[in-house]
Amino acid sequence: MKKKAKFITFEGVEGSGKSSIISLVRNYLVRRGLKVVIFRDPGSTPVGEKIRAILLDKKNSISHYTELLLYLAARAQLIEEKLKRALNNYDIVICDRFFDSTLVYQGYGLGLGKIVEESVDTFSFGIVPDITIILDSDVRKSLNRLRKKDRIEMRSLKFHYRLRKGYRKLAKKFPKRVRLINADKSLNEVFDEVKHTLEDFLLVD
Ligand code: TMP
Repeated sequence: MKKKAKFITFEGVEGSGKSSIISLVRNYLVRRGLKVVIFRDPGSTPVGEKIRAILLDKKNSISHYTELLLYLAARAQLIEEKLKRALNNYDIVICDRFFDSTLVYQGYGLGLGKIVEESVDTFSFGIVPDITIILDSDVRKSLNRLRKKDRIEMRSLKFHYRLRKGYRKLAKKFPKRVRLINADKSLNEVFDEVKHTLEDFLLVD
């Protein structure tokens, strides 16, 4: 798909500080005169937000395959309803999580394997981030930062360790697109590193 915008996604384990970094990145890019929009996955559409509420509600008992399908459904809705258009109308489109989360959480975390790769491929409709920043942080410390835990955050420590390992594997598998940044530092230090990575990317690309 031909597009005008650069598509940037942010990933990481729970409590890795994604939201704070994304908001700093947005301000920085806007100050540079760029037209920026931010989405979150799952979410950012009326139906996507409803699916998100189902997925995160700890009262719900959801089978692994249903969970996979719901994440794919929310993303399909986001792509068709918002993302495709945004990629042609903005300079920068930022997404707080995207298909790498499915590869890691449902693929590595739940161990659903190949079907995850195949279905992610099909239901991303050819849309691939230009750059993906993974905020790599200590699982135990990050989980301790959370106040109230949702259905996914409540999973075992083992599950969360698999996520960090999964993200590191992705960074190795896609070294050009995926950048791993040490997030066990102060917010300013992490932001500085993210900023440098994005500056290099925006200059070269
Ligand atoms: P967050 O956007 O606040 O981080 O919450 C989304 C939660 O959903 C988080 O626990 C990660 C999880 N998730 C998946 O398990 N698979 C996915 O494909 C996506 C996008 C998120």
